[in-house]
Amino acid sequence: MAVRIGVIGAGTVSKHHMEAYAKLKDVKVEVVCDLNEARARKAASTYSIPRAVMNHQQLLNEKLDAVSICTWNNTHADLTIDCLKAGVNVICEKPPAMNTAQAVEMLNASKKSGKLLMIGFTKRFTSKLIAVKRLVDDGVLGNIYSARAAFLRRAGNPGGWFADIKRSGGGPLIDLGVHNIDQARFLMGKPKAKTISAVTFAKLGLRGNITEPARWLSADFDPKTPSTVEDQTTAFIRFDNGAALSVDVSYSQHRDTDEQTYLDLYGDKAGVSLEPKLVISSENNDYLTDTFPWVAEDVYQKPFDREISHFVDCVRDGAVCLNPAEDGVEIMKILDGIYESARLSREVQIS
Ligand SMILES: NC(=O)c1ccc[n+]([C@@H]2O[C@H](COP(=O)([O-])OP(=O)(O)OC[C@H]3O[C@@H](n4cnc5c(N)ncnc54)[C@H](O)[C@@H]3O)[C@@H](O)[C@H]2O)c1
Repeated sequence: MAVRIGVIGAGTVSKHHMEAYAKLKDVKVEVVCDLNEARARKAASTYSIPRAVMNHQQLLNEKLDAVSICTWNNTHADLTIDCLKAGVNVICEKPPAMNTAQAVEMLNASKKSGKLLMIGFTKRFTSKLIAVKRLVDDGVLGNIYSARAAFLRRAGNPGGWFADIKRSGGGPLIDLGVHNIDQARFLMGKPKAKTISAVTFAKLGLRGNITEPARWLSADFDPKTPSTVEDQTTAFIRFDNGAALSVDVSYSQHRDTDEQTYLDLYGDKAGVSLEPKLVISSENNDYLTDTFPWVAEDVYQKPFDREISHFVDCVRDGAVCLNPAEDGVEIMKILDGIYESARLSREVQIS
């Protein structure tokens, strides 16, 4: 019998989930739900989904095996907990929640129900990350003691709910930095944060007047509604194993590239840079040496295909989940610590 799926939220990211489910054998999206009726109906017609509903309780009447939660950040915890209580497995988009307390409630609901909660850390499913994880596991880098990561946009505040702190919980840190920090921590062997020092800035705002370049837009983008989230965050994280990570993220910053990402890890045997090109740097026969493993570039959909396929493997076949709810709690501790340090203008301890 086909695995019965529901999708909550029919905005931008949900399309990547629905496209991924559509590629899988014996998997059927039975129902899509959005507060916005037109959006739910359009998704149902585009992806041949039998039912479109406006309320997640109606969706839960459909006797589903699993649900994708693709909604505003402030709804993740309640929707996840309701689905788990109804006996349905969940993949919840990143960030898992608005704060650590909610992420812990979600984890507890998963344990109590015996159902899976997977967090949508999609970047763990990029071809480069998969390749580098293999190198790390094979000991190629040795002991990784430091890392730096960035996701920098020039004029890339997506507006709508992303720019509304009550629905998003924050700006580029909780939206983009969550990926950076998760990727680095994942490759570093998931150390726990010990202390954090951070600053945030809100100087440029939405910049709805800028029509170019194309940017990721919230489904309800309005160029006239001001942003209430930060433009930029810079953070320094010390981990319990002695390693350190520095992170820089921005929605808006006067810079000469529309978007730039980097992720560099430094080990005692070798270092690796994932962007713009995968390169491993070390020494060989007394020469400094760079090697460039060839890894196929992903189209944007590809990591979602891998992520959703893994989620279905977990639900249907009991595969061990690579992105468990516990990782969601640890990432929220770090995000909370960063915002707290910025608010207090001093280093904070993470318990
Ligand atoms: N994994 C990734 O790489 C990735 C990329 C983009 C966005 N995201 C995450 O996906 C989520 C959605 O982002 P988006 O860009 O699709 O936003 P969006 O604004 O395009 O769509 C969100 C949709 O959720 C609907 N919604 C909100 N609350 C609801 C509720 N209680 N019930 C039903 N529908 C509800 C809205 O009406 C809207 O249509 C966010 O948490 C975001 O951080 C993840």
